[in-house]
Amino acid sequence: MTQDRSGIPSRRALIGWGGAGLALGAAAAGGAVAMTRTGEDVDPAAAETGAAVAFHGPNQAGIATPVQDRLHFAAFDVTTTDRAEFVRLLKDWTEAARRMTAGKAVGEGGYGGLPEAPPDDTGEALGLKPSRLTLTVGFGPSLFEKFELTDRRPDALIDLPKFAGDALDAARSGGDLCVQACADDPQVAVHAIRNLARIGMGKVVIRWSQLGFGKTSSTTPDAQTPRNLMGFKDGTRNIAGTETDRLDKFVWVGEKDGPAWMTGGSYLVARRIRMHIETWDRTSLQEQEDIFGRDKGEGAPVGKAKERDEPFLKAMLPDAHVRLAHPDSNNGSTLLRRGYSFTDGTDGLGRLEAGLFFLAYQRDVREGFVRVQRNLATDALNEYIQHVGSAVFAVPPGVRDKDDWWGRTLFSEEA
Ligand code: HEM
Repeated sequence: MTQDRSGIPSRRALIGWGGAGLALGAAAAGGAVAMTRTGEDVDPAAAETGAAVAFHGPNQAGIATPVQDRLHFAAFDVTTTDRAEFVRLLKDWTEAARRMTAGKAVGEGGYGGLPEAPPDDTGEALGLKPSRLTLTVGFGPSLFEKFELTDRRPDALIDLPKFAGDALDAARSGGDLCVQACADDPQVAVHAIRNLARIGMGKVVIRWSQLGFGKTSSTTPDAQTPRNLMGFKDGTRNIAGTETDRLDKFVWVGEKDGPAWMTGGSYLVARRIRMHIETWDRTSLQEQEDIFGRDKGEGAPVGKAKERDEPFLKAMLPDAHVRLAHPDSNNGSTLLRRGYSFTDGTDGLGRLEAGLFFLAYQRDVREGFVRVQRNLATDALNEYIQHVGSAVFAVPPGVRDKDDWWGRTLFSEEA
């Protein structure tokens, strides 16, 4: 049965199990939802009503899209060795993603189908709005060692070097592919990952996953800047989803960058950064502000009055985070940050297992994250944080239309 998430049975449910083709068409035509285009500011009224973000476009949604409140990020390993089967999965995933982002149930829906078979959709998002769900897929370096893809691996998709202070846990790092699910309702994001994992059973397996709340980076400069778990406004100087020139310059892979299959794509670096928040909470306000180079209340750079005032780097201490991360200290490097806070219970030593799940998109990992992270080796913030998980992915261009699918440009022989 075809259902939207309102749980209202579609025409197909009413005409019974037999009328599949007819009913699918009806469902595709119906289920009208307010759409917001990738890279454009959300109409606040639309956001409130839990609108849908368009799935089709030249770039994948979930990058320049105004940041949603919640995250469920999953890295997968491929278990099948059959290339055709993997391509089939990418097509099935695309179809499911197309439906879920529009607020529809997967396949035949969550109930009402054959009683002898498990329902196509797990059901927990029935009745929930699209909630601006975006699903963004990426391919990790290890995928290119499979399916004879070695010569298609982009030069920019490097294995990240070891950085000073890294304490990476292999069980929370890497992955052949990833799906970033962002939504304003956590249940919608979790439902999406769960259903993709379910469709992938026997072909891919979840390697690690991360839930996030409280977006820590805004891509909508007019909105109030969110705060991270250290209590500071985070994302003040970021690339906005509306800045098409800067997106082209720093985020989207251009035609001349190569390889051709990545044009319109981007590269994603994910870092699970643990914060020693108990130590931080015993640190004086002055020291906290010195560490970032901004004040805690307004978020203004040292010596300036307003959050949006241009930072004057020389007024900051040499090891201040903003001074070291700023493009002027990194040969112009600029990242689109899209991270989320996390707290995953306690660590068994009476401390919260909390931090920042850092997500950054860029046109070239070498010119982006690697350059900035190297410069952060002397960051005063390092005393209070530790990078414990790491992954890098090539994020292919967007799905153009209803016949297109995630990864088509990479696996073009099957296209
Ligand atoms: C737990 C770790 C981190 C925390 C708490 C943190 C926090 C902050 C804060 C509060 C700001 C100032 C407001 C803003 O402009 O967004 C900032 C700026 C920035 N951070 Fe971080 N950050 C962390 C890790 C990183 C990492 C790993 C990178 C990149 C490798 C990074 C790159 C940047 C950049 C590029 C800026 C903007 C600098 C500017 O243009 O002024 N941050 N961060």
